[in-house]
Formats: sequence, structure tokens, C-alpha cells
Amino acid sequence: MPSADPLQEIEALREQLDAWNYRYYVLDEPSVPDAEYDRCMQRLLQLEAQHPDSQRTDSPSQRVGGEPLQQFNQVSHEVPMLSLENAFSAEDMQQFNRRLLDRLGDGTASLEYACEPKLDGIAVSLLYRDGVLQRGATRGDGTTGEDITHNVRTIRSIPLRLRGEGFPRLLEVRGEIYMPKAGFEQLNNRARERGEKTFVNPRNAAAGSLRQLDARITASRPLEMCCYSVGLVEGGVLPDRQAGVLAKLREWGLRINPESKVVQGVEACNDYFDDLAERRNSLAYDIDGIVFKVNALALQERLGFVSRAPRWAIARKFPAQEEITRLLDVEFQVGRTGAITPVARLEPVFVGGVTVSNATLHNSDEIERLGIRIGDSVIVRRAGDVIPQVVSVVLEKRPDNARTIQFPTRCPVCQSAIEREEGEAAWRCMGGLVCGAQQKAAIKHFVSRRAMDIDGLGDKLVEQLVDEGLVQNVAGLYALSKEQLLNLDRMGEKSADNLLAALEASKQTTLPRFIFALGIREVGEATALGLARHFGNWSELAAATEAQLLQVDDVGPVVADHLRQFFDSEASMGVVRALQAAGVNWPDIERLPQQDLPLAGQIWVVTGKLESLTRDEAKARLQALGAKVAGSVSAKTTCLVAGPGAGSKLAKANELGVEVADEQALQSLLAAHGVDI
Ligand code: IVH
Repeated sequence: MPSADPLQEIEALREQLDAWNYRYYVLDEPSVPDAEYDRCMQRLLQLEAQHPDSQRTDSPSQRVGGEPLQQFNQVSHEVPMLSLENAFSAEDMQQFNRRLLDRLGDGTASLEYACEPKLDGIAVSLLYRDGVLQRGATRGDGTTGEDITHNVRTIRSIPLRLRGEGFPRLLEVRGEIYMPKAGFEQLNNRARERGEKTFVNPRNAAAGSLRQLDARITASRPLEMCCYSVGLVEGGVLPDRQAGVLAKLREWGLRINPESKVVQGVEACNDYFDDLAERRNSLAYDIDGIVFKVNALALQERLGFVSRAPRWAIARKFPAQEEITRLLDVEFQVGRTGAITPVARLEPVFVGGVTVSNATLHNSDEIERLGIRIGDSVIVRRAGDVIPQVVSVVLEKRPDNARTIQFPTRCPVCQSAIEREEGEAAWRCMGGLVCGAQQKAAIKHFVSRRAMDIDGLGDKLVEQLVDEGLVQNVAGLYALSKEQLLNLDRMGEKSADNLLAALEASKQTTLPRFIFALGIREVGEATALGLARHFGNWSELAAATEAQLLQVDDVGPVVADHLRQFFDSEASMGVVRALQAAGVNWPDIERLPQQDLPLAGQIWVVTGKLESLTRDEAKARLQALGAKVAGSVSAKTTCLVAGPGAGSKLAKANELGVEVADEQALQSLLAAHGVDI
């Protein structure tokens, strides 16, 4: 876009970058590759440096600037930032609604409510004067907060200047700054790798990121903002309904939660709550409830406030995802690959909708980082489908007799030596197939539904078979006799026959399943499928050099190394030969280089709840067929797979005319390409 007049070019670049930001953050419609965005930004920075008089604080180039602050300044909120009353049940909601109708006392039969997810982040106020961001502040105690303008400016979903026109001369916008779950996981993983302290939850991570005197730190954190109301408004008028106000804010370039919706009556509020409660885990961010607000501002005014909360709004809360309990003991489990995982035994506690009595402690570094002792009171978090975690210790409650945790010096199952490889977090038992724990775990994996799918071989039975010395490795399963089975506890004639029939049936398998079933480190289903498609048959795969393995999409140096170690191991290959000798077989499959994969060049998106597989599994299968799987729908999306509960992505796909498939259509497609699920 070079133009003769550099000042014109500067303004054009600013508009272009603002427009891209708006499409990306507000409309959720990425419209330009990162590289193109970066090129324009570099050009703008270069021109601004050459023309210092063109500098403006609302230029998209001015997101991080200046020296770290010495301290935070205080800000008074002219219009106080209030809190909300809570509801915990559908009945509480009915009572709330009744209270409002009684108070209005004008015969109104049903109220219109604006429903908004209650984001679990940090409440923030943004002040725009003539459309330019002047100040960002925390809520603080509601009357006085802290000036965090320097940090707020680094968050790209917050516009430095408003778009369009018609905004009041002075406009204070309020909302929540939060850290999406994926960004939080990445941040914590990086901290773990470096041996640094991790954040307890996304909310603490967001709070910690905003409480920085150096804006460069904030800039490096994945923060976002959603707006939900206005405070001070001067020199302009806003729409007369909550939902209308939000729609206007969106037009002006501020981000609004796309799940927000207007409904009629309290029953519909409860339906909205149930729907979101079901989808809570699949949202990209944490929410701790739903806020319901009387939509008409005139009615809000009539209803007024009680102490520090409005009468016209309520927050219905979800079950807590964090609770306090006691660490009773720590046990050490040995996994399929020998990794030794400390597991916390907890006093049972109801959290995140289930009773939790175990939580992973990951590894010895984590025990050290938490500084945890047996007998401690601990905070346990169970967010969605994520396995329960011990996130911190409540030191004030430590009893005098709390015991430090001794990490084992030998394998707790087979007493073999344990080792920790350079750069690895886990200690591993070196016993390999000699270790009973590894034998059991390898067999459980081999027989599982997505591997060899052997019915009737549950965990308890596998443990018995290994403990009785009947089976040492997966090949041993096929040598089991009916007499041996009948000698086992609780094994009848019929079950023994069924199990033998299931073992027999499993011999006829597919190459991808077989590769996956071997349990080679880091080789999941998608990698197994990629390997099978690339090499077409077992012998070429097993003979492949590291360089040849690296040609397979999804295979990096670590996986290639694990594969070669497996193929070079006499013991492992002996088991493979024994399986083949027992009759395990599979047809060769058609070799397909990456560019010829059936979905090569296509972009897919998966949303909503799927029944037969998780979204990650669906993603892995689509990738194995050559598709790219993206996180959001755009005009470039080939197809959206939408399960029940699909929300904004489905709406977007419909709006853009993107093809939408349901789970059944996905299954047919996968089956048609030889991916059985
Ligand atoms: S309205 C006068 N709407 O919840 C009404 N608050 O106790 C004041 N929050 O810390 C708040 N999402 O930051 C409102 N859609 C939403 C919200 C929301 C999250 C937070 C808010 C405050 C707390 C209210």
C-alpha cells in the first residue's frame, strides 16, 4: 500500500491494522495471515520512526511503551463498580423474578432478561474520551481501584480508539479481563518446563498478569477482554436496553461475549442456564455462572439498588471448581512407559460436580514446587474434564505432625533402578517388560477399545493374569487356554468361551490399530494412522530410517527416536513376531503421500459435544486424513462438524454459508476413508 504521502500511508496502515484487529477480536473472523499483519505493523513502526510528529497514543503500534512504572496510582470510580447478588438454584431464580414483579407492582406478567456468561476474571473499567482510550483501572473495592492503563493497552482485544461514530464524548466501559484456558495451560506448561512457579487457575493468572509494573510482561500474557456494561457516560445517549447497549459497544469495536442472549421470562433464564452449564467445559474460557439482568434500562432504574448490588440483576452460580480438603497419603504409580507418577490420596471432596478422592501430583518437581506434606490442607481443582489437580497448600492449616513426602529411589513395583533422562520431568522404572506395573499397563492399552478392542478383558482380569504369572506380555494373551481361564476367580464357562472368542476375533485387525496397540511412546492414534498410510505395511515401517520416519506428518525427532528404539529392541520385536505367529494379521493399506490425503488442503472446525469420540479424537482423525483443523470458523473453512450444544461457531458457519456436518456425517466420512472409530 505504499503511497506518495507518508502521513497518508501511516493513517492508511493504522486503519488497516485496526480493521484486522476488529475482525479478529470482535467479529471472531480472522481475515489475514499473521505474516501479513506483521509486515504492515513493521512498515508502520518504520514510518512512525521516520516521522516522529505523526506519533499518536492511539496508533496500533503503541501497545507497549515506556519504562516500567514505580508504583500503581489510585483511581476513583465516579460511578461505583458494584457487585451482584447470587442465586444457586432454579428456585432462587423464581424468587428473584417474583421479587421484581412484586416490586414493580404494575401487573407486568413476565420480564425480559439479558443473559450473559459470568466470566471468571478481573473486573476492569476503560475510559474513552472522544473515542480514545484514556485510562484502564481495576475495580478495587468498587470505589477506588488501581490505574493499569499501561497494561490494558497491551491487550489486543481492547481498542485504543473506538470505531465508527456516535459514541459519547466520555464513555466508561466495564468488563472482565480473563485468560482463555488454552493460553493458561501453555503459560503454566512453559513455567513448569523452566522450573518456575505455576498459576493456580486462569483467574489468578489474569490477576497476576495485570498486576505488573512492567507492561512488557503483561504483553507476553494471553489476556482478553469482554465488555458487559457502561459506567460514566457524558455527551451522548445510549440505547434503552442492556442488549442494545452491548450491540452498540460491539459496533464501536469492543468485544462482547457472543453467548449473550435476550430471553422472555424466568423459565427461559433457567433453560439458558442449563444449556450453558452443559457446554461450560467446551467454552474456551472459565465461567463461574450466568448473570441475568432486566433488559429495559427504564425498569432497572425503577428497581434501583440495595446496598452494593443492583436489584435488577443476579448471578446464578455453577458448582465450585475448587475446594479445600486434606492430603491423606501419596502413592506412586508406574505407567505403561515406566513413568512414576505420584498420586495424592485425598479426603473425598465434592468439587466440579463429582466426588474426588485422588489427584495427580505429576512428578517430583511438582511435589517440590507445591511444598506439600502429608496431612496438609490442600486446594483441589477439577475444571471440566481435566483430571483433578492439587493447586496449592493452605500453609496456615498445616498440622504439627505433617510429614514430608519421600520420593522412591527404586521402582515401587519391581524394585528395578529408576532414572530420569536429561530434560525430562518423570523418573522412569528401568525394568521394562520385567516390571509388573508396565506389563499390566501395556496389556490394558493393547486390549482397549481403540486398540485391539478385546471385549471381556477388563482391568481387574488383566491384573489377575499378570499377578498369577499367566501372561507377561501382550503376545501371551493369545496363548491362554480355557483351563487356565477357568482356574481364575469368578471365571465361568461362558465368560471363558466369550473371552477366547473375543481374542480370536481380534486377530483380524488393521495396521493403524496394530501400531497404536503396541503402545510405543508418544505414538497416539493419529500418529499410528499417519504412519500406516505413509508406509502402507509393517515391514517397511519397521525398516524405516529416522530420516524416513521424519517425513511423516505429525512425526518429530522425539517420536522418530521412540519408534526406532522400539524397532531396534529385540524384546519388542520378539513380541511382534509372537503376535504374528499367533495369527494376528491385517491387510496392507494404500500408501498415500501427504498431499494426496483425501482431505489435503481443507480446513475443518469441530464444535459442540460429540458422542462417539472426543473433539480431540475427531481432530486427530481429520488431521490424519490431511485436513487442517482450525479453532474458529472463517470464510476459508471447508466444513464445520457441529455436535449438540454448538453455539457461536455454528451461527457463524450458517452466516458465512460454510458446510455443516453432524457427527453421523463425520463418522461416514471417516469410515469411507478407512478410519474406523
Ligand atoms: S454486571 C451492576 N455482568 O461479576 C452490575 N458482571 O459480582 C455489576 N462479572 O466482579 C456487574 N461477568 O466483574 C456483570 N456479564 C457480567 C459479568 C459480571 C462477570 C463479574 C464482575 C464482578 C462480579 C459481580
